[in-house]
Amino acid sequence: MAIAHAPDGGAPATPRESDLPVWGGPADLLRFFLGWAVLAPSRHNAQPWVFEVEGDEARVYADPWRALPAVDPRDRELEMACGAALLNLRLAAAHFGWATSHEVVAGGRRDGMLARLRLEERRAPGPDEEELFRAIPRRRTCRLPLEGRDPPGGLVARLSRDAAEEGAVLRPVEDAERAAIAELVAEGDRTQWADGRVRAEYARWTRTGGSPRRDGMPAWSLGLSDAAAFLQPIWLRVSDPGAVEAERDRRRVAAARVLLCLGSWGDHPADHVVAGQALQRVLLRAAGAGLAACYLGSPVEVPELARRLRDTLGMRAFPQVLFRVGYGGTMRPTPRRPVDDVVRRMEPLPPPPAMIAVSGGRAPAGAGEARSR
Ligand SMILES: Cc1cc2nc3c(=O)[nH]c(=O)nc-3n(C[C@H](O)[C@H](O)[C@H](O)COP(=O)(O)O)c2cc1C
Repeated sequence: MAIAHAPDGGAPATPRESDLPVWGGPADLLRFFLGWAVLAPSRHNAQPWVFEVEGDEARVYADPWRALPAVDPRDRELEMACGAALLNLRLAAAHFGWATSHEVVAGGRRDGMLARLRLEERRAPGPDEEELFRAIPRRRTCRLPLEGRDPPGGLVARLSRDAAEEGAVLRPVEDAERAAIAELVAEGDRTQWADGRVRAEYARWTRTGGSPRRDGMPAWSLGLSDAAAFLQPIWLRVSDPGAVEAERDRRRVAAARVLLCLGSWGDHPADHVVAGQALQRVLLRAAGAGLAACYLGSPVEVPELARRLRDTLGMRAFPQVLFRVGYGGTMRPTPRRPVDDVVRRMEPLPPPPAMIAVSGGRAPAGAGEARSR
């Protein structure tokens, strides 16, 4: 497999398959597979995940330091991003010949754990897993205009099945619903951009092309020049681009060949993780067919509008993300932090001295188990 190089810092964005630690244990394998997990999409490319690897288990945690309180106050999209990373991890394990089991944990845990995955036994990957795995490094968000070409026949039905297989629902927006949805998107844009905290957060996660940071949105991915990205924090402090953004998104909704709303059957953290896995599966399937995605976040992110979106589409499920897919120009990959930066170090617990004395020098049960920092 060719290595895709991220433009910023020249860091490899995709791990090399030939680096598979063939002589390593399950923890080494899991760390290796995480190289694909971190290629998942996340709002503002905040990469809000932390992983723990212990034996044959990897655990996925929310990283509260990378939350986006202005645009995502309930951590809904943060949890979806972690779900997307979990799907990549499952696919990487499958590609390298491992059956896995995984569990999305009920939300609200104080430690932020969202899911765990375990390596089970060896088995050959299926063709579907291979197709999705191969699309991981090719998936892109494209905010530039998409082409007017129709996607292959049957693709939308395939995407809907993908969402359903992951426990979510995909609702294509019909032509007759376009005008109403365009209104909601425009209203959402105006509402969000009028909020100085949303503008400040956006500016904080925008990067100039030469930035050494390996997170956030590079200027080129937003269609901005470096100079514009550099000046953006000042510009967004004094001006509200809501009207311009609303008009642009209204046109995007009208021009989209395929406009989709992904929903979940509940609206709790575990549902968001499930929705994130479903979203990623849909995006990978689309990427495999050469299509990129472009998100229209505002009507789902403003709670009052999310209710109206649900009514307008007559969905029983809770809308979690509205996006269009289509053929776009060639986009470069956005940067990612290396796996070492997102895996928590595990240290062996020192055996408690008093207990060693009681057990006659033999390590008591539990001593030597790992503890995370
Ligand atoms: C749940 C979720 C919501 C997102 N919402 C938006 C959005 O509203 N607008 C947008 O431009 N990008 C949105 N994105 C895309 C991210 O900005 C993008 O994934 C990130 O910049 C990394 O780029 P990449 O997808 O090309 O790897 C969203 C991504 C996720 C996972």
